[in-house]
Amino acid sequence: TACSTGGGGSAGGGDGRLVLGFAQVGAESGWRTANTKSVRESAEEAGVTLKFSDAQQKQENQIKAIRSFIQQRVDVIAFSPVVESGWDTVLKEAKNAKIPVVLTDRAIDSKDTSLYTTFLGSDFVEEGKKAGDWLTEEYKGKDGTVNIVELQGTTGSAPANDRRAGFAQAVKGDPKFKVVASQTGDFTRAKGKEVMQAFLKSQPDIDVLYAHNDDMALGAIQAIEEAGKKPGTDIKVISVDGIKDAFQAMADGKINVVVECNPLLGDQLMDLAKKVSKGESVPARVKVDEGVFTQDQAAAALPDRKY
Ligand code: AHR
Repeated sequence: TACSTGGGGSAGGGDGRLVLGFAQVGAESGWRTANTKSVRESAEEAGVTLKFSDAQQKQENQIKAIRSFIQQRVDVIAFSPVVESGWDTVLKEAKNAKIPVVLTDRAIDSKDTSLYTTFLGSDFVEEGKKAGDWLTEEYKGKDGTVNIVELQGTTGSAPANDRRAGFAQAVKGDPKFKVVASQTGDFTRAKGKEVMQAFLKSQPDIDVLYAHNDDMALGAIQAIEEAGKKPGTDIKVISVDGIKDAFQAMADGKINVVVECNPLLGDQLMDLAKKVSKGESVPARVKVDEGVFTQDQAAAALPDRKY
């Protein structure tokens, strides 16, 4: 049937299936692996032909993938932008080819919102706020400076910018909270460990680690232990995502709190892709529901974690 083509012709070989080009960030974290699996499985279930590309955390690779999707005349393009800036040119090319674009997981900072149809993803500012709110609650009524080190996500990415901003907003009301060091760990375990090792050398008195994702927190925990300190006790650990390994670390007392970020967007993405390819109207913003988990809930929640 012709209804599966988004006005840009078909790459589907005439079998009527919707063809979705998906330009993924990479495979930097447990969250990302779960996200990729969700997109692949949901595409299969929904009868969508998925053209999948892994950009290995490089914007140039994502731009190449999007251009190749345009050339192949896919019906819909979805992508999770590695950084916020620098997308206008390639998205104008998609627009000129009349291929609708769905932003998935991460947003862009373009002023021209006509370059994409909708954005499906978490509210990262809100996640940062939840992290900061937990901290202010934890230190309520306690005097003395609280020295915080921050492991940022990929420089220039929406989750790094927003989680940083949301957290800063939550703690700014009380001058006892001091972010004494803040550096990117690129959302990976290896970098999280490496940067935490440097923090431990340069900062004599760290009370709290705020990591923008679980993988960096888990890498940092190794560094903390190797330095002879107890993560979760000597240094409190706040993390974001909620992968199983982080829940295990929380149950073991090594992480204090995890702010959930849900990667299982596949079904919602397929639904949106089908709608936009038919020209149906969709909300400009689709958010994901997420919670906050503390140590006392970790063991009970662990068996039900889906990623
Ligand atoms: O964009 C979502 C973030 O990207 C996740 O929090 C992080 O783990 C991933 O790499």
